[in-house]
Amino acid sequence: MSTLTTTRTADHPEEPDNRPEWIFSQTPSKPHATFDYDLAIVGLGYVGLPTALAYHHGGSRVLALDVSERRLDDIRGHRADLVEADRHRLDVAENDERFHLTSDPAMLAKARAIIICVPTPVDRHLIPDLTILKSACDMVVARAVPGQLVMLTSTTYVGCTEDFVQKPLEARGFRIGVDAYVSFSAERIDPGNERFDHDDVPRVIGGATPECEEEAVRVVSRYTTNIHRVSSVAAAEMTKLLENTFRAVNIALANEFADICSTLDIDVTEVIDAAATKPYGFMPFYPGPGVGGHCIPCDPHYLLWQLREQRVNAPLITQAMTEIASRPGRIVDGARDVLARGGIALANARILVVGIAYKPDVSDLRESPAIEILSGLAEHGATVGFVDNHFAGVRLPDGRLVDAVIDAAGFDADLILLHTKHTGTDLTWVRTDQLVLDATYRDSELAQSRVI
Ligand SMILES: NC(=O)c1ccc[n+]([C@@H]2O[C@H](COP(=O)([O-])OP(=O)(O)OC[C@H]3O[C@@H](n4cnc5c(N)ncnc54)[C@H](O)[C@@H]3O)[C@@H](O)[C@H]2O)c1
Repeated sequence: MSTLTTTRTADHPEEPDNRPEWIFSQTPSKPHATFDYDLAIVGLGYVGLPTALAYHHGGSRVLALDVSERRLDDIRGHRADLVEADRHRLDVAENDERFHLTSDPAMLAKARAIIICVPTPVDRHLIPDLTILKSACDMVVARAVPGQLVMLTSTTYVGCTEDFVQKPLEARGFRIGVDAYVSFSAERIDPGNERFDHDDVPRVIGGATPECEEEAVRVVSRYTTNIHRVSSVAAAEMTKLLENTFRAVNIALANEFADICSTLDIDVTEVIDAAATKPYGFMPFYPGPGVGGHCIPCDPHYLLWQLREQRVNAPLITQAMTEIASRPGRIVDGARDVLARGGIALANARILVVGIAYKPDVSDLRESPAIEILSGLAEHGATVGFVDNHFAGVRLPDGRLVDAVIDAAGFDADLILLHTKHTGTDLTWVRTDQLVLDATYRDSELAQSRVI
């Protein structure tokens, strides 16, 4: 990017103009630049790394950027949590000069499109924490060069792409749709899920202008032709919020049905499976110990947070998120009830939690209900342990470290709490005289399994 000029504008002759010099050149927008990479992915986490590999697999020259050297080391050392197909893609990519891993933001100027894929968590008050996204967008905007597309893929509030990308680019003098292109297209990846190839999942794209939309479609088509266009960036942002809020509300409903069925002594899973035979108008959601990961416990709060500014209530969503947040506490209560029925006080019990990841087949502990459940049980005086091949230990919110139990049978648990069942989880060590609380609601192989 050329240096800033102080040329005065016709509209405001006395004001310095901060637009870059190239804006005033004879050919401001063409040719833009020659780019060494078709695109750069900023943020190589659960979403960004598979996305980078999908683009590379589709034939693109990919600059894969992460600010964390530790993350880059994990990727180079093959320690990143990837499904088998992506592991294979990484093997291919790392031996190809068209795939470049870096932590150097200066290289962003060499990429024709920049795809931002960094975390958008909530803080402990459930307020969106936009610090990481803002800093990533600032980094990209500061280095933007003419002709680049900047696409946000992190889940966020409606208007964020405009606030964090479009307006800052305009402030630098870029003309959106002419010198720079802006779009939003949320990632829909389901980490750990081998059933859906990344490239087969349709992408929803919204552009800041029709030209931006075209540019975004051109880039995304490098790895999938499965594209659905919407009329604006805001519609694309809202689509992602609807998808995950839909899941949150339905999981809360499934949890409520689990409690209702328990009261009426009916197997909720049997009921849901039966309802799912209806070929239209019903989609099965299952109860569980709560929700974890980086999406469902967080994303609806981005919507609720932004609605508060407008003084608008969304009571159904609020209620669903409250139910979801209280679910681990219900599991602790359920454990106490099951133990009490077996004549054991929670305070004296030894409880072994099976699986602590937030869902099967991932090494992701973010927002995992298991942490709150282990904490809650320990606070009531229980002796807790866990088995999960993905983790050697876990730190509870009070700072205490709980090491993984190596010998599950030797732990001699009064209660076994099934939280997450990874593929291949071994339960042959469970004795028939041990109490089992199945918070997954799906384990029929243990005859003595109970749900709360
Ligand atoms: N995890 C999911 O299941 C999932 C699914 C769909 C969408 N999403 C959304 O995708 C986004 C990313 O989530 P994730 O799970 O991949 O996060 P993650 O925590 O797994 O990875 C984020 C990566 O971004 C890196 N990073 C942070 N700041 C950076 C910067 N300024 N420049 C470059 N790299 C930076 C971090 O080092 C980390 O490696 C979130 O908005 C999330 O809501 C997540």
